[in-house]
Amino acid sequence: MNIIVTGSIAYDYLMRFPGKFTDHLIREHLHQVSLSFLVDDMTKHWGGVAANISFTMGLLGMHPKLMGTVGRDFGDYRTWLEGVGVDCSTVRQIDHVFTASFFVNTDLENNQIASFYSGAMAFAKNFKLADVYAGVPDLVVISPNDPTAMMNLAEECRTRNIRFIYDPSQQVPRLNGEELRQGMLGAHGMVVNAYEAEMIATKTGLSIEQMCAQIPVLVITQGKRGAHLYENGEKTEVGVFPVDSIIDPTGVGDGFRAGLLCGLSHGWSLKLSAEVGSLCAAYVLEQVGPQSHQFTLPEFVARFRTAFDDAGVLDSFLKAESA
Ligand SMILES: Nc1ncnc2c1ncn2[C@@H]1O[C@H](COP(=O)(O)OP(=O)(O)OP(=O)(O)O)[C@@H](O)[C@H]1O
Ligand SMILES: [Mg+2]
Repeated sequence: MNIIVTGSIAYDYLMRFPGKFTDHLIREHLHQVSLSFLVDDMTKHWGGVAANISFTMGLLGMHPKLMGTVGRDFGDYRTWLEGVGVDCSTVRQIDHVFTASFFVNTDLENNQIASFYSGAMAFAKNFKLADVYAGVPDLVVISPNDPTAMMNLAEECRTRNIRFIYDPSQQVPRLNGEELRQGMLGAHGMVVNAYEAEMIATKTGLSIEQMCAQIPVLVITQGKRGAHLYENGEKTEVGVFPVDSIIDPTGVGDGFRAGLLCGLSHGWSLKLSAEVGSLCAAYVLEQVGPQSHQFTLPEFVARFRTAFDDAGVLDSFLKAESA
């Protein structure tokens, strides 16, 4: 299957604050906030939603086309992504700016405070799917990106009758009700977390049932409680995959999406696809950074079978490996 994953491509600067943010947020002083958190650890990682999703899809043996705009500092990142099989021919480089950068500080309770510099991502609206790829993709994923780019890509998919998954996640706070309604219109699927689903419902005035009535596949992730799946309005739930230890939550949602998309593109059931997503999410949680995990397909299948039952469907991963 020919999948184009569109969205942010960024560098992540991850910091760890050895305390609790909530100890420093004093209700009486919230009208004037000037806080500095002294962090004892900082690491720089590959990141950006579209790149994170594509990376884990690469580990799963897929070759997604990554579409997004990057700056002049992209060279080593391209080499990294191509190394796991991601097709970067659809990435566009803007030489006079830097690649988008995400600065995130995580405290002892896994609360996070983040800032995002859009950099080259602000140019994403200048490119259509047709500008970067001459063929017709089977599926397009519209992940967080410049808001106009997200709108344009959804519109292009509708016009060209290309199946798309709307994944507005981190951009939900930035998008208004009308933009969200437009983005969802004609989508084959939508993936958001529970908080984002609430925000979308409030902003658009659409209930979950009304969203289900227009989107065949709706997935609402529930953090450590797993995910709720709605297929043509019918609800199922999947649990999380047991993790060894939670080291860093950054990118867990992206890992989940990679597995989900992999399963759906193979034509597996929504439940099995989400379970593959749950295991990908577990791998992400166990490392610092959204692209620090590694697994081979046989390792993935063996681990999957310690907690979930695929009734042999994942054997195709093992055949792909030996082919
Ligand atoms: N504590 C956990 N243990 C195991 N799996 C988890 C845990 N938290 C999240 N996951 C897995 O990751 C999926 C996505 O998590 P979540 O709903 O937190 O996404 P998110 O809020 O979009 O995350 P992100 O911070 O990446 O944006 C869940 O559906 C679950 O499968
Ligand atoms: Mg998310």
